[in-house]
Amino acid sequence: MTFTARHLLGIEHLHPTEITTLLDLADRYVELNRSTAKHSDVLAGLTQINMFFEASTRTQASFELAGKRLGADVMNMAMAHSSVKKGETLIDTALTLNAMHPDLLVVRHPASGAVNLLAEKVNCAVLNAGDGRHEHPTQALLDALTIRRAKGRLHRLTVAICGDIAHSRVARSNLLLLGKMENRVRLIGPPTLMPAGVAEFGCEVFDDMRAGLEGADVVMMLRLQKERMDGAFIPSEREYYHRYGLDAEKLAHAKDDAIVMHPGPMNRGVEIDGTLADDINRSVIQEQVEMGVAVRMAAMDLLAQNLRRERLKKALTTV
Ligand code: CP
Repeated sequence: MTFTARHLLGIEHLHPTEITTLLDLADRYVELNRSTAKHSDVLAGLTQINMFFEASTRTQASFELAGKRLGADVMNMAMAHSSVKKGETLIDTALTLNAMHPDLLVVRHPASGAVNLLAEKVNCAVLNAGDGRHEHPTQALLDALTIRRAKGRLHRLTVAICGDIAHSRVARSNLLLLGKMENRVRLIGPPTLMPAGVAEFGCEVFDDMRAGLEGADVVMMLRLQKERMDGAFIPSEREYYHRYGLDAEKLAHAKDDAIVMHPGPMNRGVEIDGTLADDINRSVIQEQVEMGVAVRMAAMDLLAQNLRRERLKKALTTV
């Protein structure tokens, strides 16, 4: 098996060999991105439409750069100024854009499952750029690439994911990916921010951060997802930082060479100490951003190959 998926909607249905194939290709795109030329034509002639129904800096910018570096015609829909504002539904919007023959549709939406639903209605490849609290597959893939490059492997590592697990699609996608690659995952956070039934994922759960960090190879911090909270989940940000904010003292419980990750955007002084986030000896946060472009290039390259194969097969059966 190499990479057989038609869409990239989540980590859930990816096989470990598909993950490895994508990461290997992304490694090659890291080299391209570090070169002077930064350009390839693997998506030449293809049209990529980015539809972001939720705010984004990293994901939207890196999908746009990824498409442009691979030679696609890239269009960013300004969803805040689209006919969605006049009441047009997600599906009607998707069908309208589908009629313009895009090849790659990149979608971020606040509702869990919205991107899967949309993928059923269009005849191009769909990439999930984050849907509600469901999945954020390219984030987990870029995190995996960052870990593999920093640690030299992506198996038998102890990874501590800390903070607002309940509202986090990043946590869910990472949990799935790291489990598939045979890592030990620990979830750390207050019980109010831990989803019900989380033990089914085969991970350990801690509400004491120091205990959860003990001997960890990787410490992944999460943002408090206030936009998805419908009540008070923490007593105060000050109290939260005291118990769950990562600083040098708490990090000392992890391995001496443990790396610090954060998907961004960060709330300095709420979930992470600003000095630690900027410490290039421990923090790989900027590397995560760099890997984001390469992973999105790899994902679109592989999906475009499958799309072209599918179209060729269809054309051959109709002659
Ligand atoms: N990590 C992440 O998804 O960041 P953005 O919301 O800025 O895209």
